[in-house]
Amino acid sequence: MSEENTIKDGADLSRREFLGTVTAGVAAAGVAAACVPFVSSMNPSSDVLAKATTEIDLSGIAPGEEKTFPWQGKPVFVVHRTPEEIAAMEASKGGKDPEPDAKRVQKPEWLVVIGICTHLGCVPNKTESGWLCPCHGSVYDNSGRIISGPAPRNLDLPPYHFVAENKILIGKA
Ligand code: FES
Repeated sequence: MSEENTIKDGADLSRREFLGTVTAGVAAAGVAAACVPFVSSMNPSSDVLAKATTEIDLSGIAPGEEKTFPWQGKPVFVVHRTPEEIAAMEASKGGKDPEPDAKRVQKPEWLVVIGICTHLGCVPNKTESGWLCPCHGSVYDNSGRIISGPAPRNLDLPPYHFVAENKILIGKA
């Protein structure tokens, strides 16, 4: 093989490699472009995203009052605790699932819990000292901690944060 042929073959080879690389790149870009509408169709729509979070204006909840709000199909209890209730909850560790009150609230005057009994999923009723589950008698305190009855753990806490002094957004920590 002459030197000229070797150079020519080398030139052909690199041209082939170049074309192969370009073709593969174009094909990959085409596949990626074709996937964009498909992948974005799997993203939650804006109304679903809106339901994933619930904004709550706390200014209408008086001290000592509890209101229930729906969030992702679940009831969320929001309690405006009084100074006496806060003091009592801070002095107690809870019952069978001990947890400091400070770990269950972001601001002591506002308790936000998911209103579903951790035993079998009934919705507990508010009492002066917390909640009583009508199904099998589990008793929760004003921190949502289980005090007695068959429920194995405290009422769950939803992710939330304060977006203003008197406004919370449930669904995002
Ligand atoms: Fe609440 Fe059983 S479901 S105590």
